[in-house]
Amino acid sequence: MWWLKNVKIVDPESGSIQVKDVLLEGERILEIRDSLTKEEVQNKSQTGIQVIDGTGKYLFPGLIDVHTHLREPGQEEKEEIATGARAALKGGFTTILAMPNTKPVLDQRALIEFVCNQGERAGGANVYPIGAITKGQKGQELTEMVDLAAGGAKAFSDDGKEVQNAELLRLAMEYVKLTGLPLISHCEDENLARGGAMHKGVVSAKLGLRGIPSSAETVMVARDILLAEETGSKLHLAHISAKESVNLIRAAKQRGVDVTAEVNPHHLIFTDEAIAESKYNPSYKVNPPLRSAQDRQALLEGILDGTLDMLATDHAPHTWEEKMKPFAEVPFGIAGLETALAAIWTYLVQPGKLPVETLLRVWSLNPARRFKLPGGLVQSGQIADLVLFDPEQKEKIEPGWFISKAQNTPFLGQELQGFASMVWVSGQLRFQKAGEEKAWQELQ
Ligand code: DOR
Ligand code: ZN
Repeated sequence: MWWLKNVKIVDPESGSIQVKDVLLEGERILEIRDSLTKEEVQNKSQTGIQVIDGTGKYLFPGLIDVHTHLREPGQEEKEEIATGARAALKGGFTTILAMPNTKPVLDQRALIEFVCNQGERAGGANVYPIGAITKGQKGQELTEMVDLAAGGAKAFSDDGKEVQNAELLRLAMEYVKLTGLPLISHCEDENLARGGAMHKGVVSAKLGLRGIPSSAETVMVARDILLAEETGSKLHLAHISAKESVNLIRAAKQRGVDVTAEVNPHHLIFTDEAIAESKYNPSYKVNPPLRSAQDRQALLEGILDGTLDMLATDHAPHTWEEKMKPFAEVPFGIAGLETALAAIWTYLVQPGKLPVETLLRVWSLNPARRFKLPGGLVQSGQIADLVLFDPEQKEKIEPGWFISKAQNTPFLGQELQGFASMVWVSGQLRFQKAGEEKAWQELQ
């Protein structure tokens, strides 16, 4: 049994923060009380008791990241399921969803089951696969979505690409209803985006880089919302980056369309100016691209007013060699699992721009509800997917600091604040901050 003393618990609905004692037994939260005595805890426990003084720390529900790229099978030099699942724990995530743009693409049940099995073996965060919408992500033929769901897929997406053929996507939306799962759209019109390396605007013109206009995203946001409205299927929009998209989603929600959307930390923190200021640092190259200050402001407003439902990392690991080429040639993607929470804490929560209850709603409760995943709340009887979070902990992000194989992050070299001290998955302690191998004690 775990006895977590004096931890701060946030109510994601009201925002109230209370200091409590929490008991974990087996895979669940047994009890939450104002305080407990040693005798009371001993009376409740048949086995040993591990006790932690959590004074000054939060007990967060484990964060749930609905958008990661783990690269296995096929590109294990970038990331493996095991390294990704353990990196996730360090970043405060207890559950992650893995995108299907692997080699081969996750378009068959055996591959879905492979990812589930590898995830279980890793002993990190829970890993659940997302099945492809089309075979080979070629945008031509639908996968057997019902079979993939039976194998353990939690959603469907061709992420990395968009299904360009509207009729095929409409059919996918009809078909996905049989599974009850959401379809995740990577909103990108290939013709509008082709050849671009960054957001199309003043900065791209100044830098002499080909731009990706906001319309490459927004025309597909509009299309996909209209198709979801017509078919009545559950639609989730990945990595929203443009202000016009936020407006389209807000209007769709007002009409009652079953649409949710996510935003990535890098789009809330940076703008296209970062590419100029950093003199073409390839770690800022991501798809969709970092956009303007107005876009960034609209995304934050969207998170605050509930138009955007979730934060998600879009953890996109690449090797150092691949990222060390000229900006126009490097692959898109930012690795984020280990730094995302601390980055959001440092840039948004700490300065008072994002309340902590909103953070937990968009990174734990809403993902759990939308994708029917365990977790999301710190309440007695709930699964003990939990993070002891230290808001004061500062770490310098350096090569060698990562559990992930990838280091393609713009935070490299920076100091961030707010990290997980300990992480439990189903009541099992699976991560402890380096240097605190035994931050807890056995109660005698
Ligand atoms: O930057 C990105 N990288 N965006 C995507 O949509 C795909 C991802 C990847 O797989 O590397
Ligand atoms: Zn994507």
